[in-house]
Order: sequence, then structure tokens, then C-alpha cells
Amino acid sequence: MRLKIALLAGDGIGPEILAQSVKCLKAVEETFEHQFTFCEAPIGGVAIASSGEPLPQETLDLCKDSDAILFGATGSSEYDNDPSATIRPEQGLLKLRKELGLYTNIRPVKVFPALVRNSMLPKKTVTGVDLVIYRELTGGIYFGKKHLNENKTLASDLCEYTESEISRIAHKAFKAAKKRNHKLTLVDKANVLETSRLWRKVVKEISKSYPEVELECLFIDNAVVQIMMNPSKFDVILTENMFGDILASLGSVIIGSVGLLPSASVGNDNAMFEPFHGSYPQAQGRNIANPVASIFSTVLLLQHFGLHEEANAVAKAVHKSFIKGITTTDILGSSKYGTDAVGDYIADNIVDADDIFNMNDENIGLGRSTII
Ligand code: IPM
Ligand code: MG
Repeated sequence: MRLKIALLAGDGIGPEILAQSVKCLKAVEETFEHQFTFCEAPIGGVAIASSGEPLPQETLDLCKDSDAILFGATGSSEYDNDPSATIRPEQGLLKLRKELGLYTNIRPVKVFPALVRNSMLPKKTVTGVDLVIYRELTGGIYFGKKHLNENKTLASDLCEYTESEISRIAHKAFKAAKKRNHKLTLVDKANVLETSRLWRKVVKEISKSYPEVELECLFIDNAVVQIMMNPSKFDVILTENMFGDILASLGSVIIGSVGLLPSASVGNDNAMFEPFHGSYPQAQGRNIANPVASIFSTVLLLQHFGLHEEANAVAKAVHKSFIKGITTTDILGSSKYGTDAVGDYIADNIVDADDIFNMNDENIGLGRSTII
């Protein structure tokens, strides 16, 4: 298969982790005889520094013209500490999601048997966790009208949703639940918010077309408690943009490190693959950042194009690195491996189905329908 992949490394650790993903995709290209073309473009803080814009027009054009986008990270402490800045790195990512219509953000949270002890929760609570968050990504409070009055004493952010914005992602989430464990949890705040009541109404109506999927509705404040107490009872979680951002962060507590969590942001014509994590500026240039969230994002990319054998080969190589302890220090405090070494090891172990390293399902925790 020929694929043109836009590489948007962005800020902080972005370039270091993305370089490891490219190594892995090049190994896939060679092993499975594909043709991948990579094109780099600036976004976020680095783009502001070079052009004054967090999403330069050339970057947007390249993304529109590519089959897929691999995103590194965005954000910088320089802007975090300056609330008065009107141009900010994150605006690049948000504008890109909006312009490309990437309304479905898929965030899998799966506990790997080899890493159960890494979780911040007890072993019995996290064993077997395999949930996926469907986060609406182009609407809600993130994109509503923003206002700050003249003397900067009053601010507002409008949260808006239309029925069609809710229904298009709801169908995607129900379809996923149908293929998985037949359970969908809608997370909202319908006891307070009008938008949440619309979500409930639309999702309940749509659920009639998916009788094989059990629908549960939870308020966000209750959902965070339930997810922490009993994460393995969840299958597909559907929620709006802001709640999805917050809920997905719980994934790092369940799994033990934010450095392991990938995501896919999918629209009707484009798809972008991005880790959950931020730009981690404190780690920039120190070769300590975990590249696995980014490498797992390439697994989602390969799955998106139906390249399942290739996706499994990358995921297996990552699992092998876990089992062999070839991980960064966020996973194993005493580890002597850096970002580069972990990336090299994983890329070197991407081989086709006759892999000499014989892994069984129990060891690597292959899931029902997805591997991560
Ligand atoms: C995420 C991030 C982004 C978001 C930021 C960087 C804009 O936190 O992808 O979870 O809030 O969506
Ligand atoms: Mg976030």
C-alpha cells in the first residue's frame, strides 16, 4: 500500500517520540513491502516561533493532502505561564481537528498483563481492563464563542452541540460496542446541563437501532468514581469533548503511565493519530520520554488502513519490549533505556508472522478485536 503520512512533531518531546514512530513505520514498510512517504510540517509553539501562526496554511494544506497525520505533542510552559497570550500552541491542534472534521476521537485504555504491577490501582482492579473512550472532538465548550470583557473581569465559553454532531459520533460508538462487549456508557451532566440533556435524548433514541448493545448513562462526577473503582466493567464510553479530555486522563492512572496511551482522531475524509500526552517540556532533549504512546498511535494508523498483520507486528514488538523490560523509566524506575533505545528495539523486532519470538495470547494480552 502507498501512504502519504504528514509528520507534525510539534513541541517539547514531540520530535523525539515521533522519530521512534517513523523508525517503526519504516520497519513495517520494509518488512511488508509498502511505500510510505513522510512529509514534515510545523505546528504549535515551533510554528508560532517560525511563522507567527500555530497552524500555518502550508501545514494545513499538507495534512489535507495526506492519507494520515502522525502528531507528536503541543504546548509550552512559556505560554502556560502567560494567560494573556492570545496566540497559543494548542490552537494549532484544535484548528487542525476542526478544519479536518476529525470529530471522533478514539482513546483505548487496555492493561497489558506484563504491566499490571505498574498501575496505580490494585492488581485485582485493573487486571483485564479493556475499555475505549469515544470522545467528541470538534464541538462543545472547546469551540464555542469565547468572551472576555474589556476590563478582563468577566469571561465566558459557550458550550453548544447540535443533534447531528451528537448522532454521528454516537453511531460510531454503538458500532464499536457491537463488535466488542456490547456495552455503551454515555457520560454527561444531564442533571445540570442542557447540552447533556440533548446528548441523552439523542443517544437513547439511537440506542433503539442497536438492541444488542446495553446502554448505561452516568453523570460525570459519578463516572470518575466508577471508572476508578471498577474499570473492567466498562466497554465503550461515549462522551462530549471536555468530559472526554478529563476522563481519558484517568487512563494513565489505570495503566500506570500517560506515556503508553495512543489515540485516533477520525473524520469522514481524514485521520490523525496522536498520543494522549502533552509536550512534557521538562523531558525535552533528555532522551527519557516514553515513545510507546506514539508507537501505539502508529498501530491505530495501520489498523485504520486495514493493515492488521502489520499493526499486530508493531504491537507484538512493543509487548516484547515490556516483557524484556526494555522500557523508559516511567515504566521501570531502574531502566537504563532511553527513548531512542526503546524505539530501536521495537523497530528491530517488527517482523512478519513467522516471528521467532513465540508469544502466546496470555503473555501479550491480545484483545478481542483490537490489540491495544
Ligand atoms: C488532549 C490534549 C488537548 C485537548 C490539548 C493539547 C489541546 O489535552 O488531546 O487530550 O485538550 O484536547
Ligand atoms: Mg488531554
